[in-house]
Amino acid sequence: MCGIVGAVAQRDVADILLEGLKRLEYRGYDSAGLAIINGAGELTRTRRLGKVQALADAVHTYPMPGGTGIAHTRWATHGEPSEANAHPHVSGDIAVVHNGIIENHEVLRRQLQAQGYVFTSQTDTEVIAHLVERELKTASSLLDAVMATRTQLHGAYGMVVVDRKQPERMIVARSGSPLVIGFGIGEHFVASDQLALLPVTRKFAFLEEGDVAEIRRDGISVYDLNNQPAEREAQESTVEHDAGDKGEFRHYMLKEIYEQPQAIANTLEGRLFNGQLNLEALGDLSGIEQVQIIACGTSYHAGMTARYWIEGLAGIACNVEIASEFRYRKSVVRPNSLLVTISQSGETADTLAALRLAKELGFSKTLTVCNVPGSSLVRESDMALMTRAGAEIGVASTKAFTTQLVALLLLTAALGRGRGMDSATEKRLTDALTHLPGLIDKALGMNADIQQLAERFAEKHHALFLGRGDQYPIAMEGALKLKEISYIHAEAYAAGELKHGPLALIDAEMPIVVVAPHNDLVEKLKSNIEEVRARGGELFVFAGEAAAIEPQSNMVVLPMPACDDIIAPVLYTLPLQLLSYHVAVIKGTDVDQPRNLAKSVTVE
Ligand code: AGP
Repeated sequence: MCGIVGAVAQRDVADILLEGLKRLEYRGYDSAGLAIINGAGELTRTRRLGKVQALADAVHTYPMPGGTGIAHTRWATHGEPSEANAHPHVSGDIAVVHNGIIENHEVLRRQLQAQGYVFTSQTDTEVIAHLVERELKTASSLLDAVMATRTQLHGAYGMVVVDRKQPERMIVARSGSPLVIGFGIGEHFVASDQLALLPVTRKFAFLEEGDVAEIRRDGISVYDLNNQPAEREAQESTVEHDAGDKGEFRHYMLKEIYEQPQAIANTLEGRLFNGQLNLEALGDLSGIEQVQIIACGTSYHAGMTARYWIEGLAGIACNVEIASEFRYRKSVVRPNSLLVTISQSGETADTLAALRLAKELGFSKTLTVCNVPGSSLVRESDMALMTRAGAEIGVASTKAFTTQLVALLLLTAALGRGRGMDSATEKRLTDALTHLPGLIDKALGMNADIQQLAERFAEKHHALFLGRGDQYPIAMEGALKLKEISYIHAEAYAAGELKHGPLALIDAEMPIVVVAPHNDLVEKLKSNIEEVRARGGELFVFAGEAAAIEPQSNMVVLPMPACDDIIAPVLYTLPLQLLSYHVAVIKGTDVDQPRNLAKSVTVE
């Protein structure tokens, strides 16, 4: 989704801004632009449809010197992707970049047009530029003009405003869309994600909801929702500088798939040692009688998997719901209920809104399973269980998902202690987690076979994924991966549902992927496999050896490393990630930035 970078410095900032935008490319966008105030007090602006590289080429052809600048990657919401709709938007001396959506932009647009303002784009953002320009005519400072502007805006925004006549400052405001301030020596920066600024600083302060800040070369001043001065503590970033580097890999997605053994080891560090789980940091969960999980997309699949564990191992009732549904329906909250949000980014607009609603509804505690320290979900939840996957750049979530599963197993153990989970089960879980990074490594050894298999999907238009029990959400995740990066229509079914409709789809043109570890349900699953074979379907089965599923006509069986049932959902995710990756590579799609998608969905 949209990305913001801004700088106030003595040196030229164009290259810093462009590098920042490149580091935000993974979020998904359709156009990019920047505006810079140069030494002669002129405001220059360049915008391009398409990749940041096209913008960088333009800036290298027509250099843009100057120490104060703002830059943006746009993911279209209001108005088509075009140069005219790309940010920054300008009104007189004012230039603005904005993430989020201004819901009352039409009313404001009509008011401003009646006052003589001329609009040159179809965006909601342009109203902000005109409003600040108008307010500045009567306000005592740019800061006051932005404060006056924000009272007129309904919706979500992270915005940065500069004034041609005041190159020594920029004003930033946050409501529903994250912004982080970066500290340099004699220079300061702002971005929607710290990753953008890692080449220039490692010291960051995260703005809170409702904050407005003035950023100057020599310092910053922050004001809270009520325009009162506020302190926002600067912290050293723990994100690796080269997190945005593909290294030897052709795509970020492949790099991130291969990072999973280490990422999972990081998730377990300090939480599992000497064969013991150390879950004290999760606090006291002993009184919890019900768990409600809320998430979107892949994170929702992690939640669905966790329901099998929380009910099956910990013996605690658990519901799972998509955030965009939960936030718009009336739900009943039982006493002693724990709300768990799951999110890679910690900024997903629907999940954040659901958390805020849940607090109003009276959940006893809120906990987020999240990958980004300092993100909105982390700051607004009572407790945070960090997944420690490291920066995930590919839009398709891979290591974020498997580390979420591991974190949710830890949460299951914490919930289950002294409840539905006896010490033998905890020991089993502990042993299984101890072996997991090594097993993931083994599963990665299937890469060459899966690459070959992928050839058989590249010409297909549809695919089905089947699983039962805790493998059903894994089948759903496999289908989501395939559709989002290869654009092949894929659906997942709980295999027991086949005969209730989807069996009608089966013919020689429909590949069917099955996840079949050796577990209590495997005999039932074998019957489902036979139902498909009898109708001419082409099967690709990832199977545990002990499941004794033999290759037959129309059925390829890929043996999986043996593992404890408990962790099978994590392990069986790997081949599905690799399969979707190789199909996408064969099809030549944009693996890391699939069309129409964004990494972090910060608008509703
Ligand atoms: C999965 O590959 C997607 N990129 C998407 O479904 C993602 O999981 C979803 O948008 C939720 O994001 P979050 O985990 O950052 O909240």
